[in-house]
Amino acid sequence: MNRPIRVLIAKPGLDGHDRGALVVAQGLRDEGFEVIYTGLRQTVEQIVTTAIQEDVDCVGLSSLSGAHMTLFPSVVEELRARGVNDVLIIGGGVIPPEDVVALKQKGLAAVFTPGSTIGDMAAFIRDHVEERQGLDLVEPPSQVDHIGIAVEDLDATLAFYRDHLGFQVVHEEDIADQHVHAVFLQAGEMHIELLQSTAEEGPIGKFIMAKGSGVHHIAYRVDDVAEWLDRSRQAGHRLIDEAPRPGGQNKLIGFIHPKSSFGVLTEFCQITDKE
Ligand code: CO
Repeated sequence: MNRPIRVLIAKPGLDGHDRGALVVAQGLRDEGFEVIYTGLRQTVEQIVTTAIQEDVDCVGLSSLSGAHMTLFPSVVEELRARGVNDVLIIGGGVIPPEDVVALKQKGLAAVFTPGSTIGDMAAFIRDHVEERQGLDLVEPPSQVDHIGIAVEDLDATLAFYRDHLGFQVVHEEDIADQHVHAVFLQAGEMHIELLQSTAEEGPIGKFIMAKGSGVHHIAYRVDDVAEWLDRSRQAGHRLIDEAPRPGGQNKLIGFIHPKSSFGVLTEFCQITDKE
């Protein structure tokens, strides 16, 4: 994300102690968050209004008065009533374990009790805010476009996929710069891409030398490969392609490294109009 995460630290109710809230506010600032502190004795309506006006990503509620079981859920309800569903709501204070469970059922994402560190809170907020924003902004890949399989013996492999399983060959081409001959079979909505190396120094040649025949990559169909490569780069993933490049069937493709996708070489591919 591009701007710092904004957090509202709020003290609902009548309790007059804000040492804890102030420590948390300062600690989160030190962690790089933008923190707004409401001050003491805020009503639920005031807190929700501030959260909306300040466009915060997270509301942290603090209470030492024992009224958390009524006040915290009221803030959740008021936010929902005013159409705010994407703000992370967390709580903190001296709260017994059975109340923690009940508060989570009422919509708090987490409750931090004495002994929790600022680092714990910061990590939780970061993970969950980014997760939510990711969900809001991104259209996931529409489907698996194809599975790429490295093959040593194309004819023998076709005897299985085409003749035994019955998938039709729909396209075949040499992809010269990749030193590969690719055969696409239709498998329902997706393709199986059989990849035969045409030169040992190519990526499939190297794969075969190291591992023999087998699944080489999974390709996801996306609207915009460049956007997905950017998004992956920003998430700290290792890219194989810094920018989209032409792949088989006039698609635009880009790979991310299997180290960043749990051992599976992952391709994004985009259908283009070019024939
Ligand atoms: Co592919």
